[in-house]
Order: sequence, then structure tokens, then C-alpha cells
Amino acid sequence: MCGIVGYVGYRDCTDVLVSALTKLEYRGYDSAGIAVFENGKIAVAKTQGRLSDLTNKMETEGKPHGHAGIGHTRWATHGEPSDINSHPHSGRRVTIVHNGIIENYKQLKQFLIDNERDEFLSDTDTEVVAQLLDFYYDGNPIRCIRKTLHELRGSFALGIIFSDRPETVYAVRCESPLIVAQGQGEVFIASDVPAVIKYTKDYYLLEQEEIAVLKNGAVQFCSLHGRMLEKELLTADWDEDSAEKGGYPHYMLKEIHEQPTAVKTTITPRIEDGLPNLSECGITVDSLRSFRHIFIVACGTAMHAGMVGKYVMEKLARVSVTVDIASEFRYRDPLLTENDLVIIISQSGETADSKAALNLAKKRGAKTLAVVNVKGSSIAREADMVVYTHAGPEIAVASTKAYMVQLSVMYLIAFEMAFAKGKIDKETCRALTAELVSMPQVIDDTIHHVLDICQYISTRLISAESLLYIGRGLDYALSMEGSLKLKEISYIHSESYAAGELKHGTISLITDGMPVIAIATQNTLLEKTVSNIREVKARGAMTIVICDEKAEIGVDAADYLIRIPKINEMLMPMVATVPMQLLAYYTSVNKGNDVDKPRNLAKSVTVE
Ligand code: G6P
Repeated sequence: MCGIVGYVGYRDCTDVLVSALTKLEYRGYDSAGIAVFENGKIAVAKTQGRLSDLTNKMETEGKPHGHAGIGHTRWATHGEPSDINSHPHSGRRVTIVHNGIIENYKQLKQFLIDNERDEFLSDTDTEVVAQLLDFYYDGNPIRCIRKTLHELRGSFALGIIFSDRPETVYAVRCESPLIVAQGQGEVFIASDVPAVIKYTKDYYLLEQEEIAVLKNGAVQFCSLHGRMLEKELLTADWDEDSAEKGGYPHYMLKEIHEQPTAVKTTITPRIEDGLPNLSECGITVDSLRSFRHIFIVACGTAMHAGMVGKYVMEKLARVSVTVDIASEFRYRDPLLTENDLVIIISQSGETADSKAALNLAKKRGAKTLAVVNVKGSSIAREADMVVYTHAGPEIAVASTKAYMVQLSVMYLIAFEMAFAKGKIDKETCRALTAELVSMPQVIDDTIHHVLDICQYISTRLISAESLLYIGRGLDYALSMEGSLKLKEISYIHSESYAAGELKHGTISLITDGMPVIAIATQNTLLEKTVSNIREVKARGAMTIVICDEKAEIGVDAADYLIRIPKINEMLMPMVATVPMQLLAYYTSVNKGNDVDKPRNLAKSVTVE
């Protein structure tokens, strides 16, 4: 997926294009480029890398000046990210930007070669479109667009300029989204409204195979056959809040992309000399040594972060950890003593059951530690110690970045506790901490690596009535969150199950085509998990396997593989979470649900 923009108006075109592309970088940012009419000629600037690389390049090599042009930010599909594969792409007289995929580009390329058009520089499908437009261009842009569209198979939105039609931008779409925004004496195209909301709120939705012609600060629409069209001008009713989605269509997607920064901001101040140091939060090394038992108590997603915490703390620090749902904990008369630590995890710090659990723990004399995102919230104020997560405001009801930072804090506590108790030596603790420090980059890479495959697989999930998430060990802890994420926003019934437990009943639910999402990131358990995956596949399940890039899992087990980077398996949850979030997100989007505000749910549950 890519982002495209275009502009015709009185402002400096390059500035407008760059500003609009900034808001579309969530759609991909492995290269960026613009094409602007400068003194009647088309000037192109493009580069591999982010938009900032393009602006840096233009600062040193000079930026095109003009009042009409097109721009692009790319998520590579055909051809690696490189300067040459970056958009815009040109034929002899035609320059284009493209979002989408041309399925039959190889046949079209052959057709062009057979017709003595073999001037291809890049590996992209887009360049084939540029050349094809050029091939059909006889001085009539509409006719050439019509003839070209007749040949194209796939989904696409195109911004097109012709060298002999200065100060004019053409746009057309088929499947991929495109809007035309109308300002005072200026007009824009963009893949998404937020790209240009800074300039105007008025826009038209370009429909299938409609052509927009942007000229003299105004737009005209016509059909492929040149028939003029009247279109309804819409007004975006974005409030400031919505605009703060920063170019993302939903807060949830924005928040998924914010995870690398959130983790970095959360862990950096808690690391000293390469080792975790939580003393600023009131946690002393002596206290970490002394706890008899640890209770982790929370609700929803926060409870799932606690599940991962349990596995990691028990494994590394050799301390027994119980994870409790707060609404159960508060009424089950838990065996709490003064030597116990109760960790309450809460994004909001206001969840009624978690607060009640905290009060109970305090009443029984246990030490309490809050892991909370909202400063000054009740739970943060009332606990003996507090570790703030620095995720920033989380708006989407389905928690993503808050969960991720909660995980990062679980690791910090586990590492420091294991070291304090002498269960790991300094070097091991340093090495683990260093791996945690590298996670923001790994998470960022993973988001971009798995985005497309998750988007695609989600189209296979939307018709499911029910599905299973399975895993073993840490993957089981993780599958709980994957399952919750999916069900809460897609409304598909989903259960998480310990993979080895399936055959004790749940496997009877498997029917032909039922999706089973297996998380298989724990190498030590891989063979066993793969056997369980084969068991469900043999009974007709459609299996989707999230595993590391090196795991040997064949087509006999997996219908779809989502490969993620291979890192220390203890830290894999922080990576494997990403595809789970994106699968849930795109399934919800594809079902047309209100992603950020799923039915019946609230972000902060302050009643029992
Ligand atoms: C609600 C939210 C969840 C959240 C849970 C606990 O159910 O929808 O996303 O995980 O509450 O909230 P807390 O603020 O305590 O983390």
C-alpha cells in the first residue's frame, strides 16, 4: 500500500506535496518522490527512504518549484525499495504516481516490448502503466487513460501528468481509494482526507473509473468516455481530535505504529549502565529479593500482559507468580501475606475491579506495585510503588500500545528481579536488557513487514463465524491477547487455547475451513506445536501460523505463514503481538466495523 497526492494551486507545490505526504506515511515509507511542473517542464525528485530523506535530498540538490504536481510515498510491492523503483515513474511524455497493484503487468510489459517500447528502468508494475499510457497517448489525455484502463487488471489509483499539458493533474481510480479536495483557488488529490485537511475540509470521493482533471485551481470530473460529471461536494466533519489521527484512518492503526516510540520512552529512563533500574519507581533491589509470592492482578488486555509477565518472571527469577482476573481476585479470598507483592496492571488506572483488588491487597498487608499509563490516576496514587508506562494517550478501545509497553515493563521487572535474586549474572542481565533496548526497531520493522500479509489474510477471516487462537508456553499467553483483540473489534467468536489441550474436547469444534491461528515462536516447543497444527489441519481447519523467519514449517501444516523476525524467544511476544493486532485491525476494517469504538465496549471500565 502506498500514498499518493497531487496539487494544482497558488502555493509552492513541493511544500504542499511534502506536507500531504507526511500524513500518508503510515501507508508506507520505503521511498518517496514528487514530480512538479517547473517552468513548463516536469522536474522529478525521488529517493529510497523516508520522506525526510527526500526533503534532505532536495535541500542539498535543490527542490523543484512550481504550482502543480504529484507525489508518492511507497510501500514496495514490485521491486525492492530503491531510488530507481521509487515513484514517480515516467514514459516519454507521461509521469505517474500509483497506489495499488497491477496484476497483469508482466503481460502488458511484454505487449509493450513487442511494440518496440522497451525503455524500462525499474522493476515496478507502475512503470509499465506509465509506458502504456505513453503508448496510447495521442494528445488526448482522456482517450489515453480510457484505453489504458481498459487493459489494466488489479486495484489502483493513479495521479498522472502529461509533459505537454502543463499545470494540469489527472487522476483516476479503480478499487484503491482516492479523494479530490477543493480549496479556495486550489485543488488536491490524496489517498486519504487527512492528508489535505490542513488546507480544506471540502472534498469529492472519486468513484470507480471516474477521471478528475485538476486545472487552474479547480476540478472537473468526467467518465472514461469523456462525459462530464456533476459530483457531490462533501465536507469532512473532523474535529481536532480526529485530525490528530495524524493521517491514519483509525486511532488503532496509529497506536500500533506508535509502539516502537512508546516502548523506547518507557524503558529508556529505567536502564542504567545497561541494566534495569527501577529504583526511581520505589522498587529496591532488597525488596525484589524478598517477595515470597507475586500476584499479578488486572483486567482484559492488561491481564494478558500479566500472563506474559508470569512466564518470564517464573522462568528467570524462579519466583512463583499467580495471575488473577481482578473481578475474581477481589472475591476469592486470596492467600495474601505481608511478604507478597501484588502487581496491578492498568492502562487507565481507574478500572473498578483492579482498584478494588489493590485495596484488598493493601488491607491484607501485601506490598503493591502499580503498572499504569495514566499519570495521577487512582491506582497510581494508591499503590505503594508505581511504574508508569509511557504509551501516551491511547484512544482506540482495543488496547495495542498500552499492552506493548506493559510487556516491556514485565521484562524490566523480571530481569531486575532475576539479577537481584542471583538467578542470572550481570552479563546475562545486560545481554537481555540490550535485547529489550533493540525491540523498538524490531517492532517497527515487523509492522511494515507483516502489514500487507495481515491485510490479505484478514480477507480470509471475515466470513468466519468462529475461530481458534492456539499456542504453547509464552505463545499460549500471547494467544489470549490475539483472540481478545480479534473478537472485540471483528465480532467473530474466538477462543484461545493451549495447543496441547485441544484434543481434550475443543478439537471437536473444528469444521471445514474454520480458521485456526497458531502462534509458534517458541523453538523449544516448535515440534509439539506443529504437531497440534497438523492435527487441526487434518480435520479441515484453515491454518495461519505466526512464526519466526527461520522456523521450518511446511505447507502440510500451514495454509498461511506470517513470518516475523527471529530474536531471543523469551522476547518474541513483543514481536508476535504485531501481526495479531494487524489481523484484528484489518478484519474489523474489512467487515466495516467501527474499529476504534467497538460495540458494547468502553475504554475505561469504572463500574464493577
Ligand atoms: C477495558 C478496555 C480494555 C482494557 C481493560 C482494562 O475492557 O476495553 O482495553 O484492557 O478495560 O483496562 P485498564 O485501563 O485497567 O488497563
